[in-house]
Formats: sequence, C-alpha cells, structure tokens
Amino acid sequence: MVPLVIRSAKPSDRASMIAITRTVWEGTDYVPSAWDDWIRDPNGFLMVACDDGEVVGLQHIEIQEDATAWIEGIRVAERARNRGVGEALLGYGLQWSRDMGCRVARLSTSSGNPSSNRLVAKAGMRVVGSWTPLAVRRPAARRQVESISPALAGEADAVYRHLVASSSISQTRLYTEGWTAHTLSVQRLRLLCALGCVLVVRHHGHIAGATIATCAKPFQYLRVGALTGDTATLSSLIQYVLGRAQDTALEEVRATLHLNGGAQQALEDVGFRQWHTDLMLVHETHLSGVSPASASSRAGRDVYSRTPACPTEPSPV
Ligand SMILES: CC(C)(COP(=O)(O)OP(=O)(O)OC[C@H]1O[C@@H](n2cnc3c(N)ncnc32)[C@H](O)[C@@H]1OP(=O)(O)O)[C@@H](O)C(=O)NCCC(=O)NCCS
Repeated sequence: MVPLVIRSAKPSDRASMIAITRTVWEGTDYVPSAWDDWIRDPNGFLMVACDDGEVVGLQHIEIQEDATAWIEGIRVAERARNRGVGEALLGYGLQWSRDMGCRVARLSTSSGNPSSNRLVAKAGMRVVGSWTPLAVRRPAARRQVESISPALAGEADAVYRHLVASSSISQTRLYTEGWTAHTLSVQRLRLLCALGCVLVVRHHGHIAGATIATCAKPFQYLRVGALTGDTATLSSLIQYVLGRAQDTALEEVRATLHLNGGAQQALEDVGFRQWHTDLMLVHETHLSGVSPASASSRAGRDVYSRTPACPTEPSPV
C-alpha cells in the first residue's frame, strides 16, 4: 500500500478531479457534473487521496436517511492505479462510515468492471442484487389511463406493503434512483409521495401496481426505479410515465430495475432497450458502529451536521 493522505476535498481540487476523470468512460464520467453538489453536501463527505501532495484519487459518501452509507465516485488517476489507492480510499470510507454511526454501506458497480468488482470484493462487500439498465429515447404519446394517479403521502404505508410483496423488490427491499440504490421504507416513500414520484394503479380500492419515477439534477431524464403489478398494469404504468416525460419535454426515460419476465416484456413493448451492456450490481457490507458523537474527530472532520436528505427533485410524473 502506498503512503497516502486522505482529506476532505477543497474547491481548489476541481482541476485535479477534471484531469482524473477526463479519460473515464471515454470522457462521459458524471463526476464533474456532480462535484459541486458533492462538495456542498451536508449529508456526505467528498474526499481526495493525495500522494506527495498531489491528488491521485477521490470518492464521495452520502449518508442516506436510514443511516446507510452510499459510496460513489471512486476514481483513481490512471498513472496511480494498481498501487492500492482505490483500496485505501474504500477502506477509509468504510471506517469513516462506521465512525459516523452507519449500520450498512453500499455501492454500485457495473458487472463488466473487473477492477471495481475486485476492489469491493477485497473490502468484504457482497453482491446483494443486480438491476438491468434500460432506456427509451423520445417516448411516444401515452394512452389515457384513468386508474393511475400519484400516491398521496398518507398512502405510503399501503404503497410500502404493496411494493415489498412484489418478487422484484421483496428480496433486496431496495429501489433505484439511476445507479443509486435506496432502502425502501415507509419514511422514504412518504418523501417520494410528497414529491409526486410514486404512481399507483388502484383496483377496487386496493393498490394493484406502483412505480417510482424520479428526476434529479443534472440529468434531464426520468428514472424508473421500481415497477410492480400484473402485465397489463405494468404496461399502463410505464405508458403513463412515458407520456409524462413527453408532456414535460424530457427526451429520455431510463429504468434500472430488478427484472422479471413480465416487466421486461412490458418495457420492451414500448421501446425500452438495455442502454448499458452490463448489469448494475449493488454491493453491501454491515458495519458495527460507534457513537456518532465520538466519530467526527476520529474521522478528521471538525464538524459533521446532518440535515434531512432530499436528493430527489419534484417529479414531473
Ligand atoms: C476501479 C479503480 C478505482 C481501482 O483503483 P486502484 O487504485 O487501481 O485499485 P487498487 O490498486 O486498490 O486495486 C484493488 C484490486 O483490484 C485489482 N484490479 C485492478 N485493476 C484490475 C483489473 N483491470 N482487472 C482485475 N482486477 C483489477 C487489483 O489487482 C487489486 O487486487 P489485488 O490486490 O488482489 O491485486 C480504478 O481502476 C479507477 O479509477 N477506474 C476507473 C473508474 C472506475 O471504474 N471506478 C469505479 C466505479 S464503481
């Protein structure tokens, strides 16, 4: 392992971040567009790894409202790879998360990224599920579907019971917002319902199907992160979402879903195709925490404040 200093990122680290990410995924890395939000994020920690004063790596951790540490944006400069920088960043991030009182840490990788999958397996994280990334561009007009409407915040309990009974969600109890997974909870659903991100199909007073569709800066597309119901219901829900994307001039709808046959067919029928050849894997490890009060000094931060998280923009659905 190389001797490294890991510290909080500063605005002046931006140029190093740009240099590190320039060649990642043929220049399409999302980290440059997320950097400014990350550096201001009161619920997270943006850190850089320095080798002899030079920034050679970075990583962001968001603490989700159920005390899950979501680790993202691990990047190491090409010239510094395979020297343990990634391992040091992840190890530090897991320790920081533990010190902050997080019970679980999660992150996502692409199934076709051997270096990141090796890195996280070495850190003791295990795969808890795989999600298929699909997308449709310029969605066609929706059919009018009378029985679909946004769920109210007061329906969060009923929506939760419906979603966790679905085979696509029951195993992991996670839903996605793009390549970020969140624990499905009544509390989280209340927030999503209040933002208009949950659509339900009602049948004889019961919820027969549901979807979670979010829209977040800086991405100008809708993200479908849960989809349940029978074949006809799935089809109606997804057409409704496509119609709303069209109404609000969003060019693209993406879905990152734990798929069963019915959902895949319903999505393909309206033009969704896998936009990424690989699957999104979510990895997890359980952390035995210490009290958050003692944590900030050990983690090398002067102040850590927690404010209610609201990473999701109000949804146009
Ligand atoms: C993934 C990444 C962060 C790894 O950083 P790194 O500093 O090179 O990783 P480390 O040196 O700590 O190596 C960790 C392990 O991964 C292994 N590894 C590295 N590259 C590998 C590859 N191409 N194939 C298989 N294993 C690989 C290393 O050999 C090491 O395992 P070992 O100790 O058993 O040999 C870095 O390659 C990177 O920035 N890639 C581009 C962006 C990216 O993919 N980020 C991750 C998104 S989740």
